[in-house]
Amino acid sequence: DEDQLHARITAAKEALGERVMVLGHFYQRDEIVTHADFLGDSFQLARAALGREEAEYIVFCGVHFMAETADVLSRDDQAVILPNLAAGCSMADMADVAGVEDCWAQLTRVLAEEGGSLDTPDETGKVPVMPITYMNCSAALKAFVGRHGGIVCTSSNAAVVLERAFEKAHRVLFFPDQHLGRNTARAMGIGLERMPLWSPGKPLGGNGNTVASLEDSAVILWHGFCSVHKRFTVDQISAARAEHPDVRVIVHPECPMEVVDAADESGSTDHIRRAIESAPAGSTFAIGTEITMVSRLAAEHPEHTIFCLDPVVCPCSTMYRIHPAYLAWVLESLVAGEVVNRITVPEAEAADARLALDRMLEAVP
Ligand code: 13P
Ligand code: SF4
Repeated sequence: DEDQLHARITAAKEALGERVMVLGHFYQRDEIVTHADFLGDSFQLARAALGREEAEYIVFCGVHFMAETADVLSRDDQAVILPNLAAGCSMADMADVAGVEDCWAQLTRVLAEEGGSLDTPDETGKVPVMPITYMNCSAALKAFVGRHGGIVCTSSNAAVVLERAFEKAHRVLFFPDQHLGRNTARAMGIGLERMPLWSPGKPLGGNGNTVASLEDSAVILWHGFCSVHKRFTVDQISAARAEHPDVRVIVHPECPMEVVDAADESGSTDHIRRAIESAPAGSTFAIGTEITMVSRLAAEHPEHTIFCLDPVVCPCSTMYRIHPAYLAWVLESLVAGEVVNRITVPEAEAADARLALDRMLEAVP
């Protein structure tokens, strides 16, 4: 039962001591979070993977792309372990290397027709297109981005990364999350008419967008989305405001544009946490992000009223797959000298992915 699992995890962690570091994302279950040595958003977790020199094992309680990133950034002699290998991310799965390479080939063709070349800077010193990927993607895609001079971003630094990209490129190809791309670009003053949506197999300029040529575009958006954050609506925000006139509405930037527009602010999971922690007692918050995190914040802050915008609560089903039984199993295996569920990114791929991650870390130290 739950108490037994808690005791087993505690004992295994004690036995391993400094040799193990348990990282946890904010969306993890409470029974996992209590065992995390470090809890954070995806940017903080990537940095944490760089941090602990003495750890031989990094047990990553999050989803697959996060564990891959930790493997890319950590030393070769540190093993990254994902307690349940079925903990993926449906958004990350919406972009694969073949699809992005097909898009890149098509952009190359369009550019050639317009008299340019994708990888060659023009007289202004800028390249025509730079690929930018959201952290939520496979290491293979981060490697693609690294090879093509691009940068990784997370929800906490997408604006800084896009600014950096536009210093060196006329436009960007942003994947996999169309909403983060659109919300970030709009906040920079880029008009929707300059953000064509790309879907695999369909020509650029399709999907009802109005961009006739690459020339008019600034951010080419991949079609991906998060099925958890897609559920939030403007109607939910209106209902929250009707019931609580002084409510502060904060949503994650993976939410659709009209939801971000109707909210008071948007930001990463850590932004949401800090906003709540720094508010005067008695504040009311309606939050548009994953329910496990919102419920925990509500329990931790009885001085505030905190609720999730979505009344039909929706957890991230893959984050939820990190059950304490898996955590107990991987830790006890380590105690017994066996490394299970290790995530290993092949070295050539890791080297290219590191280029794209290092450019992010350099832009946002
Ligand atoms: P954060 O970087 O804000 O933690 O977001 C990660 C994620 O997967 C949100 O759905
Ligand atoms: Fe992926 Fe959405 Fe879950 Fe985040 S909340 S891990 S983007 S499916």
